[in-house]
Amino acid sequence: MTATVVLGAQWGDEGKGRVTDYFAESAEFVVRYQGGNNAGHTIIIGEEKFALSLVPSGVMNQNAVPIIGCGAVVDPAVLLDEMEMLRSRGVDPSKLLIDSAAHLIMPYHRALDEVLEARRGDANLGTTKKGIGPAYQDKFERAGLRMQDLLDPGHFRALLKNRVAEKNHVFTSAYGLEPFDAEVIADHYLEMAETLRPYIADTTIVLHNASKAGQNILFEGAQGTLLDINHGTYPFVTSSSPTAGGVTTGTGLGPKAIDEIVGVSKAYITRVGSGIFPTELFDEDGVTMVNLGHEYGVVTGRRRRPGWLDLVSLRYAARINSLTGIFLTKLDILSAFNEIKLANGYMLDGEVITEFPRDQRELARVSPIYETFPGWKSDVTGARHWDDLPSEAQSYIKYIEKAIDTPIRWISVGPERQQLLER
Ligand code: GDP
Ligand code: IMO
Ligand code: MG
Repeated sequence: MTATVVLGAQWGDEGKGRVTDYFAESAEFVVRYQGGNNAGHTIIIGEEKFALSLVPSGVMNQNAVPIIGCGAVVDPAVLLDEMEMLRSRGVDPSKLLIDSAAHLIMPYHRALDEVLEARRGDANLGTTKKGIGPAYQDKFERAGLRMQDLLDPGHFRALLKNRVAEKNHVFTSAYGLEPFDAEVIADHYLEMAETLRPYIADTTIVLHNASKAGQNILFEGAQGTLLDINHGTYPFVTSSSPTAGGVTTGTGLGPKAIDEIVGVSKAYITRVGSGIFPTELFDEDGVTMVNLGHEYGVVTGRRRRPGWLDLVSLRYAARINSLTGIFLTKLDILSAFNEIKLANGYMLDGEVITEFPRDQRELARVSPIYETFPGWKSDVTGARHWDDLPSEAQSYIKYIEKAIDTPIRWISVGPERQQLLER
């Protein structure tokens, strides 16, 4: 295995948590490289269901070291709660390491996320309101606070005082909000820092040594390619780099250290939050996908918007990430349909296009060109080998991999740990 990336090839919620859990079986390190607690990753083990937002899903393999890299943003209260939840359910998170350069989500980031969304009105982005965008905004403005700052109380208080003065200036005058009290925030964060202190480290050294020794490292992406700040459907994106490139900047390992890049894609597609979605379904088929696929957000509980698989965007994801393979999830949900559709091209202004437009005004004008496949109308949840799949399902899968020129190497047929097959 050595170094493998698991990342979302769509708009998130592809099943990365369960896929990470699968690969983590043989991993020695499992690393989150971007995002924060906007993520919601589900792992189902027998009767137990775990939803993780910040601790890497690989924590379920108790032999692996979970790492939160410098490209992630950390809300320490959420992290402590999640660690406590894991402990109370018999999962020990004590091997966790958090990179000292990871930025902190502060109370004013959450407040700003709320205010900005409200001010956008109908044009809101549909963010998770966890303060992700404002935290990255401060990072890139060079006004952020980092894990390492927490380790020196005097230094932290001084930095925070300065930041809060600046925030209050804007908050009170521009948005008419109550000012924040730097001392109150500092007391709370420094108290949490004492618990977090043993977990804070320069994880770039840990990962460098692991890579040099040929140890198995698994990188767990949050969100997905189409939500990437550079390559996604801007501005309806998140504020980090879920794509493969984010792994290197978000962990401090160079591109040559990566061996496999696995894109996770549902056998259909969903999106939660705002933004253009060419193959979105508003009919009974969409309702079936939502109901059978339990398509409701882990973090916000919002209904996910459903649609047929879109190979124009999946081909784009394969290209942008240099995918070496696809892990196709939720094939079992398509068992319900007499006919299955997918889009392999778009019509744009009277012409056929096969590459994903990067201009949202163009994306808004496309209409998908659908291919229709016969359904298999049979239960596939027990399939554990390629040969167990109905021929209709095999044809559908073969069509996809040919169209996107990337092999589909794993297929899952149910949410549970063992409900998958490797080809
Ligand atoms: P993530 O954010 O990419 O980790 O995905 P989520 O956990 O937000 O959403 C994926 C959902 O699909 C979870 O509820 C999983 O338990 C579920 N799931 C994953 N793989 C399969 C599958 O093959 N079949 C079915 N029916 N459910 C799946
Ligand atoms: P996982 O890791 C699906 C979406 C939000 C919104 C946009 C920006 O579970 O796949 P943000 O709070 O990040 O500023 O919101 O991104 N979004 C996700 N959609 N899955 C996620 O994570 C998401 N994280 C953020 O709905 O449209
Ligand atoms: Mg999710």
